[in-house]
Amino acid sequence: MTERVALVTGGGRGIGREICLALARDERKVAVADLREPEAAETVALITAAGGTAIAVAMDVTSSDSVQQGILQVVDELGPIEVLVNCAGWDELKPFLSTDEDFWDRIIEINYKGVLRTVHACLPSMIEQGFGRIVNIGSDAGRVGSSLEAVYSGCKGGVIAFTKTIAREVARKGITANTVCPGPTQTPLIDEIVSASSSGDKVIGAMANAVPMKRLGQPSEVASAVAYFASEPAGFITGQTLSVSGGLTMA
Ligand SMILES: NC(=O)c1ccc[n+]([C@@H]2O[C@H](COP(=O)([O-])OP(=O)(O)OC[C@H]3O[C@@H](n4cnc5c(N)ncnc54)[C@H](O)[C@@H]3O)[C@@H](O)[C@H]2O)c1
Repeated sequence: MTERVALVTGGGRGIGREICLALARDERKVAVADLREPEAAETVALITAAGGTAIAVAMDVTSSDSVQQGILQVVDELGPIEVLVNCAGWDELKPFLSTDEDFWDRIIEINYKGVLRTVHACLPSMIEQGFGRIVNIGSDAGRVGSSLEAVYSGCKGGVIAFTKTIAREVARKGITANTVCPGPTQTPLIDEIVSASSSGDKVIGAMANAVPMKRLGQPSEVASAVAYFASEPAGFITGQTLSVSGGLTMA
């Protein structure tokens, strides 16, 4: 694989960390962007210990300034960004009628507008270089809905539609854009969701039970799909939505 520069948001832990490791194994130079700076530094340490190249980037995807600053750092230290993976995300389980507008805004800023910000900032140089791979992390919640995740599901559905539209707009520029949708996956976020909700255990148990393979996914299983979409051989695949969810969503 060519030594290209990849930016991964949410690369500090969970699925994002495994994506960073997978891209580094494919010889990408990886910018690990995250709010959680110590965790991002740990991901970098794992990559460099394995002989790869990576830098940690402090980035809050809810702030355009922070995204711009982070991208300037990446370009300065590693070069133009050719692979962009949007993995930063967050949710809390609540019935829709128990949520308020502050909660909606928080969910939308991270899960939807965070993706718009990085794509808006990275696309011009991808167009200039005539090469780009954008992989956005959606969710099966955005394909089939998920009880107690109404606004989050709306954002992830939006990410899927946004990705398809970008794929169309840049199809002749050497750039692909695809969405990978995890199902319930064993990550720190899932652990936090379970402990924050009185019925968290029940909900996650029900989610796993709904999966034909009867188990949660592993972050590395999501990462391998992302690495494929980010690869050179995937250059004729764009605007696609791929679930990595043990058969939870079949479409
Ligand atoms: N775990 C699941 O079951 C599951 C299922 C479907 C989709 N997803 C999606 O997968 C992605 C990764 O989830 P995860 O389970 O690994 O979560 P996680 O919380 O374990 O990791 C997410 C990372 O994103 C970072 N992040 C959060 N807000 C940020 C912000 N504003 N700016 C920069 N970084 C920020 C966090 O610090 C964290 O390191 C998310 O987009 C999530 O919606 C997860």
